[in-house]
Amino acid sequence: MALAFYSETDDPRPWREAIRAALPDLDFRIAPDLGNPSDIDVTLVWKPPRGWHRQFPNLRAILSLGAGVDALLEDTELPEGIPITRMVDAGMGRQMAEYAAYGVMHFHRRMDDYAQAQREGRWTPLEPVAVRDFPVGILGLGVLGAQAAALLVAMGYPVRGWTRSRKSLAGVESFCGMQELDRFLAGTRALVNFLPLTPETRGFIDGALLARLPRGAYLVNLARGGHVVEDDVLSALEDGALAGAMLDVFAKEPLSADHPFWRHPRVVVTPHVAAVTQAEDAAAQVIENLRRLRDGEPLRGVVDRARGY
Ligand code: NAP
Ligand code: GLV
Repeated sequence: MALAFYSETDDPRPWREAIRAALPDLDFRIAPDLGNPSDIDVTLVWKPPRGWHRQFPNLRAILSLGAGVDALLEDTELPEGIPITRMVDAGMGRQMAEYAAYGVMHFHRRMDDYAQAQREGRWTPLEPVAVRDFPVGILGLGVLGAQAAALLVAMGYPVRGWTRSRKSLAGVESFCGMQELDRFLAGTRALVNFLPLTPETRGFIDGALLARLPRGAYLVNLARGGHVVEDDVLSALEDGALAGAMLDVFAKEPLSADHPFWRHPRVVVTPHVAAVTQAEDAAAQVIENLRRLRDGEPLRGVVDRARGY
């Protein structure tokens, strides 16, 4: 069996070592040195160029190095009828939960206001806000969102989650579907986005949605930049609908040097690092799927292409 690895951001070496140790017969090839493309059975990829998969006539599976597969599914030239698997937690649940908790605490504990006061050399104690008065609303309670919800519950925040199907998670108030979105938003002080990017969720966080949050709410986006209408976030920050935003992902990455988010006093920018796939945590999942592919068993973590996640 031959595997083709493609990523401009992931080091192939730890993947190759871990996979070779478990499956010594597997032929691990790294793009662009792929040899005869007809040999390739399976790919392990992060954001390959559009049409890249068309070169492999005998491809049997596509394994994503990431949890989100939006970039793969947006490729209109992706071969049909081949399973695509994604990372299911694989060490990212913990990292995403840490980022979400940090974002919520940053705003709850007014760290943005204190950073501003420090820049101005002002000693200005602010009125504390009790944790019970700082409800957090999580968009998407899947593999990653559910772990953030559990951590925030443990920290004492009132937590509500909005999903497509009803959820029953300890301490989390469940809202589902468009019919419950208004109620979900109206009781949310910090909105934390964990949705996958699909045709349904693209541009979902726009001015109309932000206006349905209580005035002066906060946004933490660690899912995808395509969920957010960036100009609407800037307008909401200007008119006070939003009091602050922590953004890890952007419509265009890397964020251009002249983007207003970089220097906005109410925006915290990080460079798509909320969770990073690491071979030491994630290789076991890939190895299990390679073994299954070799043995003709169904793969795990297969994406529903029609649903988009
Ligand atoms: P997941 O397990 O597939 O969960 C997705 C959740 O979103 C589910 O709860 C699903 O609801 C909900 N959802 C999807 N479409 C919806 C819709 N139209 N309306 C309402 N709810 C909807 O995904 P995951 O593993 O938690 O990952 C979430 C996302 O995190 C990924 O897609 C990726 O974009 C992002 N991510 C970002 C980073 C980073 O570093 N910034 C790292 C890893 C992942 P149901 O449960 O009802 O289906
Ligand atoms: C990273 O953004 C991922 O989807 O894993």
